[in-house]
Amino acid sequence: MADAMTQSLTIRRPDDWHLHLRDGTMLQAVLPETARHFARAIIMPNLVPPVVTGAQAAAYRERIMAALPEGMAFEPLMTLYLTEETDPEDVAAAHASGLVKAVKLYPAGATTNSASGVRDFDKVRATLEKMAEIGLPLCVHGEVTDAEIDIFDREAVFIDRVLDPIRRATPGLKVVMEHITTRDGVDYVKSNPERLGATITTHHLVINRNNILVGGIKPHYYCLPVAKREEHRLALRAAATGGDARFFLGTDSAPHLDELKEHACGCAGCFTATNTLSILAEVFEQEGALDRLEGFTSLNGPAFYGLPVNEGTITLSRGEPVVYPDKIDTEAGPVTVFDPMMPLHWRVD
Ligand code: DOR
Ligand code: ZN
Repeated sequence: MADAMTQSLTIRRPDDWHLHLRDGTMLQAVLPETARHFARAIIMPNLVPPVVTGAQAAAYRERIMAALPEGMAFEPLMTLYLTEETDPEDVAAAHASGLVKAVKLYPAGATTNSASGVRDFDKVRATLEKMAEIGLPLCVHGEVTDAEIDIFDREAVFIDRVLDPIRRATPGLKVVMEHITTRDGVDYVKSNPERLGATITTHHLVINRNNILVGGIKPHYYCLPVAKREEHRLALRAAATGGDARFFLGTDSAPHLDELKEHACGCAGCFTATNTLSILAEVFEQEGALDRLEGFTSLNGPAFYGLPVNEGTITLSRGEPVVYPDKIDTEAGPVTVFDPMMPLHWRVD
């Protein structure tokens, strides 16, 4: 609910439908950044080694809960990393126990720690059929990995060559297109209402590819899928703020140590957990859509996943620009917080 002059906005407590928490000291450093504002998050399984089995997901969940500071509440929604060796019965058992809320598909080689991902989609057919039967969503990193496909075209080509055939072959499967970056992704969701949703990150609403490459290379704006042309950013903003419930927030907040980002072969990922809600409020205000922020951050995701919305609320207040730290510290070194290149007037109370 926004008050008369929209200086204050109270919304249901948000969830993050795509988050990288990592493990060990990194987990310890980044978990509070998310738990401060978010009630739940879909936890990505691309650890080394990946979280493939129900037993691995249960152990990872324990490590997350052990890293949660006293007095903070947070519910990790666990996922399994789909491999060609995944056992459909193990997936079904992990779902039935309530532990696992989605399975993640990485095409092999598409991104960070995706070497164990899928090469031959026929080899995961039985798992996808089982997931359709039990209503367990598939979260998809939608990029082809063929060397001859230009990196800026990899999402659009994936939709035609991989995603659409998968959905036709397994019509009952619920699919989340993760971190869409193109108008093609938006259009595909809009033209396929059945069992299809998409997450949109905070950073893809803010940056286009010029921000990565003009005036010197900016490693902290490099992520995958890589940010595209301005017309695509505008399509994402229209989708996120347009009130269509099939689009919801998945930050893809993906921390890497600065020394690995600022590197001759820099890692992909933007770390946005710290300032995501202030950035989103600014973006939604710019689009005249503050009344739709709650749908994007707090209502559409639970509706897609068939989960209850959160009981608690958060309040955002408008005022002098909020100053966030440039970096957070981890035991292994600093991690740079995403710089939205604009003043942020909304703070979370
Ligand atoms: O930028 C990204 N970083 N994209 C991904 O798909 C993976 C993520 C990571 O794990 O760092
Ligand atoms: Zn991700």
